[in-house]
Amino acid sequence: MPNDEAVLYEQRGRAAWITLNVPEKRNALTGEMVSGLREHLERAHGDSDVRAIVLTGNGTAFCAGADLKNKGDMGDADEKARNPFIDLLSAVRDGAKPVIGAINGAAFGGGLGLVAACDIAIAVAGAKFSFSEVRIGVIPAMISVVVLPKLGEHHTMRLFLTGERFTSERALEYGLLHAVVPAQELESAVNGEVDAIAKGGPNAIREAKKLVRTVARLGEEDAFAYAEDVIARLFASEEAAEGMSAFAAKRSPSWVKE
Ligand code: ACO
Repeated sequence: MPNDEAVLYEQRGRAAWITLNVPEKRNALTGEMVSGLREHLERAHGDSDVRAIVLTGNGTAFCAGADLKNKGDMGDADEKARNPFIDLLSAVRDGAKPVIGAINGAAFGGGLGLVAACDIAIAVAGAKFSFSEVRIGVIPAMISVVVLPKLGEHHTMRLFLTGERFTSERALEYGLLHAVVPAQELESAVNGEVDAIAKGGPNAIREAKKLVRTVARLGEEDAFAYAEDVIARLFASEEAAEGMSAFAAKRSPSWVKE
């Protein structure tokens, strides 16, 4: 059982806020926290009232990566299952609902991997980031899969080799973040994203996330074939019928809660 206190779950409006809550250890990840995060993500996916998921941390750091005082152990895979941290990265990246990182402070190693896995990431000004793995004699192995598509080979190579600390402002330039805001504006900036997402049809939002992840991995021929199929299916959907009649009638579609 995950320690409920180490990872918190709270619904705020249309979003489920999942908060890493071990500020005295800068939210360094244990196996227990990784499974807590997975359970809370599943809960959010199962609740139709929740339209977006927010990942954040309590205290001065978002997440200091693997718990280095516990041999970096983020949970063992049993023989057949994938590594639990890989499972977590892919649950964030490929789960049906959008995940927004509300990056309240430092993100290092695996913590920075979590930032990269988010669909949208907004950080406070001046936060420190680093792929610090090489400094302790390991490499950013699992997270490279989610980092490379965002930063590209050029920046990823340099940052993985140097372990350099960089600020949120640089992370914005690198393409790891979508916005940098003063700390007191983080929650309202994130709420703005949640409100925008809640205006989209729930099925359309699910398919839009899947579209980006899928097309990015396919060759051009397969990507066009996938796109043609999905758009035909969505134009024929009940949700699109409702969206189009709401547009024609100059009213809000049924999924928008005023
Ligand atoms: N694992 C275990 N404990 C940690 C970790 C960690 N990853 N990060 C911080 N802590 C602990 C510190 O040991 C310290 O504990 P203490 O009070 O018992 O001495 C406490 O959290 C506070 O840490 P400070 O370093 O004092 O906090 P500060 O705010 O000055 O700095 C920062 C924060 C930059 C995140 C710093 O703690 C740090 O560099 N941490 C290590 C980051 C790292 O290299 N992570 C591993 C990457 S490898 C991977 O993820 C696979």
